[in-house]
Amino acid sequence: MSRTGEPAVKTDCSKGRFLASIYNPIQADLVEVDRILIEQLDRNIPWMERLLNHTNITGGKRMRPALLLFSGLACGELGVAHHQVAAALEMIHTASLVHDDVLDHAEQRRHVATVNSEWDNKTSVLLGDYLFTHAFHLASQVDSLTAIRRLAVASNRVCGGEMKQNAWSGNFKMTESDYLQMVSDKTAELCSCACFCGAHLSAAEESLAEGFSQFGQNLGVAFQIVDDILDLVGDAETVGKTLGTDLKNRKPTLPVIHSLSQVDAKLREAMLAELESDNPGQEQVMEWLESTGSVAYARGRARQCAQSALDFAAELPAGVGADSLKLMAQFVLERTF
Ligand code: FPP
Ligand code: MG
Repeated sequence: MSRTGEPAVKTDCSKGRFLASIYNPIQADLVEVDRILIEQLDRNIPWMERLLNHTNITGGKRMRPALLLFSGLACGELGVAHHQVAAALEMIHTASLVHDDVLDHAEQRRHVATVNSEWDNKTSVLLGDYLFTHAFHLASQVDSLTAIRRLAVASNRVCGGEMKQNAWSGNFKMTESDYLQMVSDKTAELCSCACFCGAHLSAAEESLAEGFSQFGQNLGVAFQIVDDILDLVGDAETVGKTLGTDLKNRKPTLPVIHSLSQVDAKLREAMLAELESDNPGQEQVMEWLESTGSVAYARGRARQCAQSALDFAAELPAGVGADSLKLMAQFVLERTF
């Protein structure tokens, strides 16, 4: 159903029929967010048009804008500020991915060649910086110091999370609790910020907006756990990005951390030798993960995080905002892309 109660219209505003149907109530708002994204970025800068095509800035899942808009709807009406902050968040997120693809040596993202593979790392760093700083230029037009502060703190935490990940690279002593802290920062923080800002811009009381923030945190952690599972078992064509990068870059993720905690000392030693090697064998690692049920374990942990988010959404007054947030939690768990 649309926001006005009209029957759902088929939309191509996002990939995947399930996600498109969830986004139906905010279809017009997402079009407006896309319009802002396209209008804002300066085409006079050399290659900007082509560079933006390689970030596919309006072609991602647009989860953060959607979380902001649904949280806003759950607390009241949507307005210009929601659209502007949603666009700023998508810019920050895209900037972080442009930089992330340099760090991970990734060749494809959002079904297109990455900027680092099509150009070079220098161009990626500059484009990421441009998008990141422009997001704050855009956000500064919004009459909410609270929202701007939140964006600043969240961006800072994302970078800190990525630095933690970099420091843990190749170190499989990482525990589940270290992993959860790292993904809370690098991924969940922007989801949390989106939900907080949506509620806040719809004039929610601070304590309620903080509840939305926690909802976004839980959903974001579930999202990253599923992302790490897809990196191991996903279909690259469906996901639209380079997979297998976590093993190649020797990043400890939850399935691997869990598997290492389940085996005896001898096998653990063999696993560590493989994981710490220059080119860990995906098939061998998958065999170990199978034998310890570690992908299933990670899925279970993602489900628990999504359930905590759903428990909050269940307490919200019934309506399209709350219903859509619940569907977002379902999407995060079931997605294949
Ligand atoms: C994707 O993780 C990447 C992130 C969640 C954050 C990346 C952040 C930075 C590179 C710091 C710079 C930040 C800004 C704001 C400019 P992933 O590699 O696990 O997922 P993937 O499979 O989608 O690449
Ligand atoms: Mg990556």
